[in-house]
Amino acid sequence: MRICILGATGLVGRESLDLVQRAWPGAELQLFASRDQTLEHAGKSHKVRGAPTLEGADAPRGDLALVALDDDHSKRYVPRLLALGYRVVDKSNTYRLDPKVPLVVGGVNCGEVTESVHLVANPNCTTIPFAMATGPLKRRFGLRSATVSTYQAVSGAGIGALDEFLAESKAGYAEANRLGSAFNVTRYAANAVPHNGATDESGFSAEERKLVQESRKILGLAEFPVSAQCCRVAVAVGHYMNSWVTLQEAADLADIEATLGDQAQSPFVRFYPGSSGDGLSALSCVHERDRALVGRLRRDARDASGKSVCLTMAADNLRLGAATNAIRIASRWFPGKDSELNAPGL
Ligand SMILES: NC(=O)c1ccc[n+]([C@@H]2O[C@H](COP(=O)([O-])OP(=O)(O)OC[C@H]3O[C@@H](n4cnc5c(N)ncnc54)[C@H](OP(=O)(O)O)[C@@H]3O)[C@@H](O)[C@H]2O)c1
Repeated sequence: MRICILGATGLVGRESLDLVQRAWPGAELQLFASRDQTLEHAGKSHKVRGAPTLEGADAPRGDLALVALDDDHSKRYVPRLLALGYRVVDKSNTYRLDPKVPLVVGGVNCGEVTESVHLVANPNCTTIPFAMATGPLKRRFGLRSATVSTYQAVSGAGIGALDEFLAESKAGYAEANRLGSAFNVTRYAANAVPHNGATDESGFSAEERKLVQESRKILGLAEFPVSAQCCRVAVAVGHYMNSWVTLQEAADLADIEATLGDQAQSPFVRFYPGSSGDGLSALSCVHERDRALVGRLRRDARDASGKSVCLTMAADNLRLGAATNAIRIASRWFPGKDSELNAPGL
C-alpha cells in the first residue's frame, strides 16, 4: 500500500504519521509539506518533499492520501491527488459542506464510505466528538435539539499558535503575580477568549457555524436545531464541551447510559457513568487519544417531560478530532491491522 501525507510536518500530520504505522505497518510512505526538508519525529528522520512535487509529470501515484493542509492548499492539491488515483481524506474545511462529498465520523456514518467514493471530508475537531455522542442517541431515542458550549485547546490553531502559547505561558507564569496581569489580554496564555474567526452577519464565528452545519450533515438531520458557542481556553491539547440535548422521546437515564456505554451502539466512546465527571477532563484526552470521552449525564431540570439531558464531552483534537478519525474513514477502503483504528459500517 502506498500512502502519502500532506502537511506531514504539522500537528495533525505528525499524528497521522504515527497512526499510519499502527494501521498499515510496512506501507510505503511519501511525506509532503511546504518545501523539501527533514522531519525529526519519534526518534526517526523522515524525508519530506515540497508539495509542488505532486504537480509535476513524474508525481508519485498511490493508494491513499491523508491531507492536513489549510483550506487554500487543500483546494490546490486535492484535485491533483484524485487525478493521480489516490483515495483522499481531507481534514480542512474545504469540502465539508459540498453535497457531493461525504462528511464522515467513525462510528456514526462510516457506511457512506463506499468503493465508488474517492474523496471524504473529515469534520471539525469539535463536531467529531459531538456527533459520536449524539449519533447513538439519535439512533436509539431520536434527537429534537441541542445546545453546545465549547472550551477548545490552543493546538486547534496549529503548530505556530501552540508554540507561541507555550512560550508565553512559560514567560508569564515565571512572574509571581496571582492575578495574571502580566499576561496579554488578547492572547491565549492564561486566558479564555471567544473563538472569533470569520464571525459573519449572524454574529456567530466560523467555528460555531461549523459545529451546527456539519452536525446536521453527519446526523442526516437537515433541520436539526443546534446552537453553539465556542471559546478557546489556555489548554494545549484537548477540547472540552458542555451540551444540552433534547431527545424525541423521554428516556430513563439508565437507558441513555446503557446506550452510550455500549461499544456496539456507541463505537469509540468512553462513557464515564455518574454525574460528577470524575476522571473526565480536557487533559484526560491526551491519555485516551482515540476515543470521545463522554459523561456527566444528568437531567436538565428545565424540561419536565424527561426528554432533555445535560452531557459533557471531551476529545483530543489532534487525534480523535483529526488524525484518528481520518484513519478510521480510510479503514473502510483499506482495513488496517489495529482494530481500534478500523471503523464499523455505522
Ligand atoms: N489542529 C487541530 O486540532 C485540527 C483538528 C482538525 C482539523 N484540523 C485541520 O487540519 C489541517 C492542518 O492543521 P494543523 O493543526 O496540523 O496545522 P499546522 O500544524 O499549522 O501544519 C500545517 C501544515 O501545512 C503545511 N504547509 C504550510 N504551507 C504549505 C504550502 N504552501 N504547501 C504545502 N504545505 C504547506 C506545513 O508545512 P511546513 O512545516 O513546511 O510549513 C504543515 O505541514 C487544517 O486544515 C486544520 O483546520 C486541525
